[in-house]
Amino acid sequence: MSLAEVQRGTPPANKRAQALSIRGLNKWFGSNHVVKDLNIDVAPGEFLVLLGPSGCGKTTGLRIIAGLEIADSGGVFLGDTDVTQVLPKYRDIAMVFQSYALYPHKTVAENIGFPLKVRKVAPAERDAAVRDAAAQVHMEELLERYPRQLSGGQRQRVALARAIVRRPSAFLMDEPLSNLDAKLRGYMRAELKHMQHELGVTTVYVTHDQVEAMTLAHRVAIMDGGVLQQIGSPREVYDNPANRFVAGFMGSPPMNFVEGEVSSGRFESHGVSLPVAANGNSAVAGGRAVMGFRPEDAEIVAPGTGLFDATVYAAELTGDVTLVTVNVGEESLSVKMPKEYDVDFDSTVAVRFPLERGFLFDAGSGQRVDGAFV
Ligand SMILES: Nc1ncnc2c1ncn2[C@@H]1O[C@H](COP(=O)(O)OP(=O)(O)OP(=O)(O)O)[C@@H](O)[C@H]1O
Ligand SMILES: [Mg+2]
Repeated sequence: MSLAEVQRGTPPANKRAQALSIRGLNKWFGSNHVVKDLNIDVAPGEFLVLLGPSGCGKTTGLRIIAGLEIADSGGVFLGDTDVTQVLPKYRDIAMVFQSYALYPHKTVAENIGFPLKVRKVAPAERDAAVRDAAAQVHMEELLERYPRQLSGGQRQRVALARAIVRRPSAFLMDEPLSNLDAKLRGYMRAELKHMQHELGVTTVYVTHDQVEAMTLAHRVAIMDGGVLQQIGSPREVYDNPANRFVAGFMGSPPMNFVEGEVSSGRFESHGVSLPVAANGNSAVAGGRAVMGFRPEDAEIVAPGTGLFDATVYAAELTGDVTLVTVNVGEESLSVKMPKEYDVDFDSTVAVRFPLERGFLFDAGSGQRVDGAFV
């Protein structure tokens, strides 16, 4: 199978895959309202990534779906079944945690087979299922080893195999790759993506890593402060962020923001003055606004030939690109340039990007004003 096929963004067909829905979930810890009226529908076989900063309620949301935490209100549905009151072990859901918690005194085979043993599956059938699950994660050669004899990535694969051996209706994964080093994380990301393609199990995957979200998800649900901010394909969320929070969260380095005002059909800030379309002018006329653009949409050009002039603060070769940091007014902005690009620090340059690639946000609400720059 080609990489292109693996990365194709449509959920694979799997007749066993179930839809997963959460309806109006609320959760308080004391006076701390950590999940606020959360509604999400995951399609059968879909890989949904729950993305957000630390403390925004991702793990709590996932634990409510698994039944490990009780919501104060709202419901969880698997297919047509309301599982809100069903004990975790009777929900047909497997969970993989950040700390993969293998049994140290059991072999790889025993670890993988444990969920079936608990369910009293006959040994012959169990062995076949273990070999099958181990093959899915390329661990069939290491079945007799103990966890201490495995690398971090291999342990993580055992944890995944233990989750898939049951053929559950849905997977829940809470930052399963965060304990791995960067190289292994990249490798396991591709493995996970491939596994999802092969198995087509409905999955909710929690991370605060937006690169993981972009690469793995059919759709991303972005949370902040217990509130769902936006849900959509990685491309939709990246190209059409609903608000400043989402715009700033997706993308590396993040979107550049310039604070200013909209008046008389122009966005004005220190050193920046851009024409705003009628739409943007009426939405925030006379009000404080934030202009945004992505580092990869912009380029550095000769002074006087861009949208605004700026001073070079630093240029860093990061491998495939040169990241140039420039200052304009109070703001520090990033621009991605080709790796061959070289520039003197402190020199005056200009920044240019296609105006229709610019974003405008209401400074108060953070909401994006659609079609503000055309
Ligand atoms: N058992 C608990 N008792 C009290 N407060 C809790 C409990 N579990 C979580 N919280 C609080 O609820 C909020 C959400 O926590 P949660 O673990 O869901 O965040 P998260 O998005 O998973 O963060 P991270 O990315 O750091 O894992 C936090 O403010 C946290 O301190
Ligand atoms: Mg968490």
